[in-house]
Amino acid sequence: MLELSDIFVSFRSAHVLNGISCSVRGGETVGVIGPNGSGKTTLFNCISGFAPCRKGTITLRGERIDHLEPYLRAQRGLGRVFQNFGIFREMSLLENIQLALESRRDTSAGFLPWSKRTRETIERSMTFLKDVGLDGKAREKASSLSGGQMRLLEIVRTLALGSDLFLLDEPTAGVSPRMKEDIAQSIRNLQSMGKTVLIIEHDITFIQKFCDRIVVLEEGRVVLDDTPERVRSDERLQEIYFGRDDRSARP
Ligand SMILES: Nc1ncnc2c1ncn2[C@@H]1O[C@H](COP(=O)(O)OP(=O)(O)OP(=O)(O)O)[C@@H](O)[C@H]1O
Ligand SMILES: [Mg+2]
Repeated sequence: MLELSDIFVSFRSAHVLNGISCSVRGGETVGVIGPNGSGKTTLFNCISGFAPCRKGTITLRGERIDHLEPYLRAQRGLGRVFQNFGIFREMSLLENIQLALESRRDTSAGFLPWSKRTRETIERSMTFLKDVGLDGKAREKASSLSGGQMRLLEIVRTLALGSDLFLLDEPTAGVSPRMKEDIAQSIRNLQSMGKTVLIIEHDITFIQKFCDRIVVLEEGRVVLDDTPERVRSDERLQEIYFGRDDRSARP
């Protein structure tokens, strides 16, 4: 599904990614962990086209995408879920989903009468919202949601856009424990739909519940790439988080 080969990213003189190679199969859920500043977000930016790679290739379903603009990558099913940036706060939840559905509408739908089209889109949008338990707030402004609910809306909006590869950057950061469970459930829903998920998280105990594999980054390199159980018991993980004076690490 997604193939990263020898990716290098630098910002001026700072080398942030130093030769990342990794492949993700369709339908797989892969966790990405690593200390602060190890390059996790930059890796997602690079995959989605927001950070240029100096060297290396990115292939999505066999097609090179590393030279494509972000929107062209999105059109190919790459869904970057931005923390609180991907939604329109002044619009209702329903309008947010409607807009996502409208933006991918194929030309044939243009021949349907406008009212029928709108009705259909509203019904489909409501189904998306229902799946994450937000249908009761469909007519409210997105800005009225809690942080956790906004994450859920972002995930479901990315789904409505037609994405099949999801890049989730710390979706549970700062949300309540109950909301964390709701977000976990929405990730499980993505899995049951056969979607591919890459998720950055600091809490390994949380992601090991649903990740097939965990990739550990350190200083822009992949140091471990294995099952959650094997990564957890690997002494290199302990070294990365506890072996050095890295007070910011939150394993
Ligand atoms: N646009 C940029 N310009 C300059 N430096 C950048 C830029 N983006 C990231 N960096 C630097 O790259 C390094 C890696 O940052 P990145 O955000 O990818 O880390 P991270 O693993 O996501 O960290 P965290 O766990 O804190 O989110 C940091 O030193 C950061 O300062
Ligand atoms: Mg980050």
